Amino acid sequence: MMNSNFAVGSNLKSNNGIRVRPKVNWLRIGIHVLGLYPLAELVFLYFSDQLTVNPIQFVEQFLGRAALNLLLVTLSITPFITVTGWKQPGKHRRALGLYSFLYFALHFVTFAGIDYGLDFKEIIRLTAEKPFIFVGAFAGLILLILSITSFKFWMKRLGKNWKRLHKFVYLVGGLVILHYAWAIKGSLTTMSGDIIRPLLMGSLLSLLMFLRIPLIRKRIIALRMKKRNGPENL
Ligand code: HEM
Repeated sequence: MMNSNFAVGSNLKSNNGIRVRPKVNWLRIGIHVLGLYPLAELVFLYFSDQLTVNPIQFVEQFLGRAALNLLLVTLSITPFITVTGWKQPGKHRRALGLYSFLYFALHFVTFAGIDYGLDFKEIIRLTAEKPFIFVGAFAGLILLILSITSFKFWMKRLGKNWKRLHKFVYLVGGLVILHYAWAIKGSLTTMSGDIIRPLLMGSLLSLLMFLRIPLIRKRIIALRMKKRNGPENL
């Protein structure tokens, strides 16, 4: 006999024989749509011949920005939970972080494999000459370690140290903003080049870090509870 819990068509049969529709996890779908959107956009731009006259540079920059955007979305989950009290997005933090890593990996492959044809001598020379690449590589290395250790196996193995290790994600954020601002060849003093975008990203990162300060977090939670319960119930 087949297990009575086995899926029948799109429905599941519960133990008492009643058919139960499996719940659609819209949040999970939304997270994957968000994570795969840049890739879909890039494929669309490729097939519609919109990768500009310098496609390798365009793709490299596009993937770098996608990695940074998704990193910031990942970092905004905890402050979002603090402000709204809705805990479900917390379950998808790892997926978002891994998407960020995926785009970084593709950014690196475009740089080292396609742009420089895996000429590591040239890559090392360039890294020594352009410190923004060194900063990116440092951020990328930490991101790699965080991605590998983001799974349950490592969570159990590292115990309390896991949380400590994963706080380094903020350092990655800071390093990547620096990498970005440095890479675009703009100037902070004259506000030239496209310096506004990294500045905005940097401000967002600072705000997210500010919202994580334990005292600020406690205040926000207390304010939210007060609003929910009404001042008379406190
Ligand atoms: C080994 C590590 C890395 C290398 C070798 C690298 C290399 C580069 C290079 C060469 C550029 C300049 C592209 C150009 O303007 O022609 C760049 C820009 C950029 N990278 Fe990286 N990168 C690394 C790590 C990262 C990481 C970890 C992130 C984000 C998570 C990132 C995000 C960006 C961003 C946002 C830009 C600016 C894109 C723009 O100009 O719009 N990079 N990177």
